Amino acid sequence: MRREYGAGGECFVPDSDAAAVHRLFSLIARAYDPLNRILSFGLDAGWRRKLAESLHPMPSGEDGRILDIAAGTLGVSMVLAEHFPKHEIAALDFCLPMLRRGKRKASKLRRGKIRLLSGDARALPLRNACADAVTVAFGLRNIRPRERAYAEVLRVLRPGGRFRVLEFAGEEKPVLFGLYNRYLHHILPAAGGLCCGHRAAYRYLADTIRRYPAVEKVDEEMRSAGFAGVRHELLTAGIVGIHCGEKTA
Ligand SMILES: C[S@@+](CC[C@H](N)C(=O)[O-])C[C@H]1O[C@@H](n2cnc3c(N)ncnc32)[C@H](O)[C@@H]1O
Repeated sequence: MRREYGAGGECFVPDSDAAAVHRLFSLIARAYDPLNRILSFGLDAGWRRKLAESLHPMPSGEDGRILDIAAGTLGVSMVLAEHFPKHEIAALDFCLPMLRRGKRKASKLRRGKIRLLSGDARALPLRNACADAVTVAFGLRNIRPRERAYAEVLRVLRPGGRFRVLEFAGEEKPVLFGLYNRYLHHILPAAGGLCCGHRAAYRYLADTIRRYPAVEKVDEEMRSAGFAGVRHELLTAGIVGIHCGEKTA
């Protein structure tokens, strides 16, 4: 891993493992939000809201810090800022084009404030035990190995701090008579190609959902990593899941 310095301050340059993921999100950053809305039939906003709600009530009370990793265009960070206006919301991603898109949107926030961080979820640029909660939405399946991210999340969480993961439920299942799987493999890449000219990027995203483990296995991973109280809730006929875990007090 190396760092580069530019006019905008320190800027993270990913190592070769993550370079392909970084390149992909740089390519689709402009189209990411509108396509998300269309391809999820508008359901993504409700999923992000559920993720924020799953943190209530915060153990720190009125203030403290919530870290949103793989924050992208700040979809979750902005909902967190609305729910927890007195908390500092730190939004971290290694893809600056995604964060820049989000920064523009966040300037219209009515409540709360978001601090942007350029960095890798596998080597968080934060001191130990400084966060009351960590969230990650649709980012965990792009991070490899996930164990490094889990270890970093546990390091930066305060004892009793909360970890919340929103992710596609993974592994092919006959959800809605297989319609969803067909949608994922055919319609998603075609729509991605039509709207932003990056069919291959959307095929890759569909593949990452297919290869991602089932919710029970992700729960197991989180337990093995050292999280306590691990459980999950499925949403929208099992298309996505919210995993919850805590750092032992
Ligand atoms: C599908 S987007 C999700 C963005 C946002 N959380 C949302 O809910 O829309 C995945 C994001 O994860 C970021 N990402 C992937 N691997 C990462 C890593 N190792 N460290 C930091 N960010 C990463 C990508 O740059 C991208 O912005």
